[in-house]
Amino acid sequence: MMTKQRNFTSMLDVDQDEALALIQRAEEYKHGAQLQLAEPVYVVNAFFENSTRTHTSFEMAETKLGLTQIAFNPAASSVSKGESLHDTLLTLDALGVDLAVVRHPEDRYYEPLVEGGDLGLALINAGDGSGEHPSQSLLDLMTISEEFGHFAGLRIVICGDIAHSRVARSNAEILQRLGAHVFFAGPEDWYSHDFDRLGTYTDLDAVLPTVDVVMLLRVQHERHATTGFSADAYHEHYGLTHGRAALMQQRAIIMHPGPVNRGVELASDLVQGRQSRYVQQMRNGVFMRMAMIESVLRANQLGGIE
Ligand code: CP
Repeated sequence: MMTKQRNFTSMLDVDQDEALALIQRAEEYKHGAQLQLAEPVYVVNAFFENSTRTHTSFEMAETKLGLTQIAFNPAASSVSKGESLHDTLLTLDALGVDLAVVRHPEDRYYEPLVEGGDLGLALINAGDGSGEHPSQSLLDLMTISEEFGHFAGLRIVICGDIAHSRVARSNAEILQRLGAHVFFAGPEDWYSHDFDRLGTYTDLDAVLPTVDVVMLLRVQHERHATTGFSADAYHEHYGLTHGRAALMQQRAIIMHPGPVNRGVELASDLVQGRQSRYVQQMRNGVFMRMAMIESVLRANQLGGIE
């Protein structure tokens, strides 16, 4: 079953069956499947926040699927003259753009755009503020699935800057629905009780020997005042040091969405160590984004796909 998302904005809209179908489709792409477009599809990648992984892997996914990319640089656009996000997308829609992949610093920026009903183009959320990051979440699920083949009963600790992390929010939402046991760890000041319904806030050292997945989050200096922040102190108290890594089960894996602050969230040589899936996550991102784009194309009857 191929999934269909009219706009791909939140993991709240992705049920278990759909998540599993997207993983299956992404694996097909990873193993060489191709999509034939019978009609052109025009896509804009509009990133109002910096990005390396998400931006480039959406570009790679679009190229592999045969979409036509229309260049758009927010800094050189009329956004700098005060044009709103809505009016920018209305313009791109009028010019013939079919799909916009948008990253924006405002939480749920996509809600008024989708609810307004006047935009004909389809939207994929490439990350909204401290809200959601559906493509990161789905590539993380794909990586976990490749390792364990299932989600039910897995024990997963998400550690770090929970309150400001769209990765934590999207992942915890779907992992819990897939039957995993989610734990949160990290500084209490950076935890939000909004997450209580999705998992258990606990001590990292206590939970580490029991988990299958250690998911570390980037310290997001840009989202809060980290005056007096000490990278060394963070690493000692909440980072995956060599001492903490030794507490992990041999078959447990380490994940990080990137970009990594080496020596802060985890010891530098653990980033590409035996238990790390950091590079695999980035590789999988291209194939998962292909599956997500296909889902949106099908839902919007774009590209004349059979
Ligand atoms: N994981 C992630 O979103 O990385 P980028 O900010 O580089 O896209």
